[in-house]
Amino acid sequence: MSRRVGIVGAGSIGVAWAVTFARAGWSVRVVDPDPVRVEAVEAEIQERLGRLDAHGLLGEPVDVVAERVEAGAEQAWAVGEAELVIECAPERLELKREVYRAVLESAPGDALLTSSTSALSPTSLFDGLAGAERCLVAHPTNPPYLLPVVELVPAGFTAETAVESAREMFAAVGMSPILVRSEAEGFVVNRLQGAILREAYCLLRDGVASVDEIDLAVRGGLGRRWALTGPFETADLNTRGGIASHAEKMGAAYERMGAERGQDDPWTPELVARAEAGRREILPLDEWGSRVLWRDEQLMKAEAARREVDHG
Ligand SMILES: NC(=O)c1ccc[n+]([C@@H]2O[C@H](COP(=O)([O-])OP(=O)(O)OC[C@H]3O[C@@H](n4cnc5c(N)ncnc54)[C@H](O)[C@@H]3O)[C@@H](O)[C@H]2O)c1
Repeated sequence: MSRRVGIVGAGSIGVAWAVTFARAGWSVRVVDPDPVRVEAVEAEIQERLGRLDAHGLLGEPVDVVAERVEAGAEQAWAVGEAELVIECAPERLELKREVYRAVLESAPGDALLTSSTSALSPTSLFDGLAGAERCLVAHPTNPPYLLPVVELVPAGFTAETAVESAREMFAAVGMSPILVRSEAEGFVVNRLQGAILREAYCLLRDGVASVDEIDLAVRGGLGRRWALTGPFETADLNTRGGIASHAEKMGAAYERMGAERGQDDPWTPELVARAEAGRREILPLDEWGSRVLWRDEQLMKAEAARREVDHG
């Protein structure tokens, strides 16, 4: 028998999660109080699966995958047999808490409940609810069937076993979970995104470059590398000797840039040593040169694909 997920809220994220789980073979029930959204689900799922199939990203006929998704208006029907319930309702705390009260009553007693919230903390969402120990945030980026990162954010009262189940379930559908170890506002993804957006606004405000030029700095430079490597690996590969050498050469300049923005977060020797240890666990320095070649090779493949699209 296939595994079953109940998705509460059939908007952008609800439908995208439905595609993600159906593609991985799960039975999916989506519920929404708005009949227009319930009606729209089937066609939207077909359309997205069709596009994935056109790019060779489905692996099964569209209809076979689409048949795994059902949509309705009855919440108890959607979650009653689910091992996982994913809440994708509007970003309003009280509304979400109302949803959880009902879900925790009608879902199986051992079902896991995750919220897709972008910005609300798991403590504010679940505190005081009966069953709070099996609740946590699982924040996707949109759309999760193309962007595999999902941030798992437990509250202090979330059971360790719930976190492990969430890890297993999201990994089982092809996601790459990050465990967010504190309820930091914005979690990890939006803090990183916020850092660059804040600086983009400052550069614009100060007349350093135009909107499109600032975007070009990312789409024609930084972003292409970031598609392959994160900020730590990027720095690691940019300097012979790896990230410790990068920090030694560039640390003071980055500290001055931070100070201009009122920040005082120096890369202390202890912090750099942690970054270095993290990188060396993944990439010993004697493999540094081959990883740089790998990065360049990937950039070439991406460039070739881009040219094909541009000329196609
Ligand atoms: N859109 C994104 O890029 C994105 C990315 C990550 C996380 N999120 C989060 O996902 C959640 C949903 O966002 P969205 O963009 O899909 O919003 P959306 O407005 O597209 O969809 C929300 C859906 O919830 C339905 N709804 C309203 N009341 C409900 C209720 N009581 N029970 C169940 N469903 C109800 C609405 O009819 C609507 O279809 C939000 O918490 C948002 O912060 C969104």
